[in-house]
Formats: sequence, structure tokens, C-alpha cells
Amino acid sequence: MRSTEQLKEEHEAIKLMLRILDRVCEKLESGEEVNPEDIYQILEFIKNFADKCHHEKEEDLLFPAMEEAGIPKEGGPISVMLMEHNTGRDHVRGMSEVLAEYKAGNRKVSSKLVENARNYITLLTQHIDKEDNVLYPIADKCLSEGKQEELLEKFEFIEREKIGICKHEEFHKLLHHLKAVYLKDS
Ligand SMILES: [Fe+2]
Ligand SMILES: [Fe+2]
Repeated sequence: MRSTEQLKEEHEAIKLMLRILDRVCEKLESGEEVNPEDIYQILEFIKNFADKCHHEKEEDLLFPAMEEAGIPKEGGPISVMLMEHNTGRDHVRGMSEVLAEYKAGNRKVSSKLVENARNYITLLTQHIDKEDNVLYPIADKCLSEGKQEELLEKFEFIEREKIGICKHEEFHKLLHHLKAVYLKDS
């Protein structure tokens, strides 16, 4: 297995959570009540699974390996990806701040919550598309098989250190639970 294949699998999990978040936005827009705890869990998934685990595998391991192989960091796709990770973090911070108010019973903030969430969904959907179709194919071309294997081993270390193997399974369970609740008609 290539390291980029594992990252692509993680993209599929993240995209599923984005679909769930989109459904949450639709409910909020139509004035329906959404359990704040579900939104909190979605944000926990995004902060830990998508950002702490997935984005750090890219930032700390894949991108540096690509640089080492001669792909320049500045002025190329890697710098765009890094910028987008940071913009995503701003949107997530925005969602967390507004969620605290929503949780406290202030339903007037739901439009702000939706705005931040939709910005995040749009950004990350395009980001994942660029990585799957542009960046990872470049990585596959410039990284040797040995390097790809080494990256996979180091990914495991990040998973253990950053979120813990058990937590990883818990996130997949959460994903399936929320899918059953929010995407049951699709
Ligand atoms: Fe990324
Ligand atoms: Fe990614």
C-alpha cells in the first residue's frame, strides 16, 4: 500500500463527515432543532481525525518528503495546501465559538454556524479534490516505494501519538452513527 492510498481512504471518511455536516446545515436553515452534542462531535472529528491526524501526516511527513524529492515548497501546490489547512482551522475555530452560544440556547446564531460550516465544507471539498487529483499523483511519481513504506510506518506513529489507535476506531463508529442519523434517506 502507498502512503497516499491511506491518505485517500482518510479523505473518504472526511468527505462523509462533510456530507453529514451539510445535512446539519440544511436542518438549521429550515429552522429545525439540531442536537448541539452532535455538532460538538462533528467538530471533535474534524479537529482530531481531519486536522490533528490527517493534516499532520501531510504537513510533517508527506510534504517534507516531497520537498526532499525536489518539489519546491514555495510557489507550488504544497504551499497552497498548507495555506488551505490554515484557512480550514480558522473556519473550525469560528464554528466552535458559535457552537458555544448555540449550546447555551441562543438559536439566533445558527445562521453564523451554517456560514462557517459551509465555508469549511466548500474549502475542504476542493482541497481534497486537488490532493487526490494533483498533489498525490505528483507524490506517487517522485517518491520511491521504499520512501512510501517508510512514510506509512511513520503515519502509524502519528496515529498512536496524536489520537490513539482506540480513538481512531471510535471516530469511525461515530461516523457510522451520525451517518445513520443524518443521511438515512440518501
Ligand atoms: Fe491536505
Ligand atoms: Fe488531505
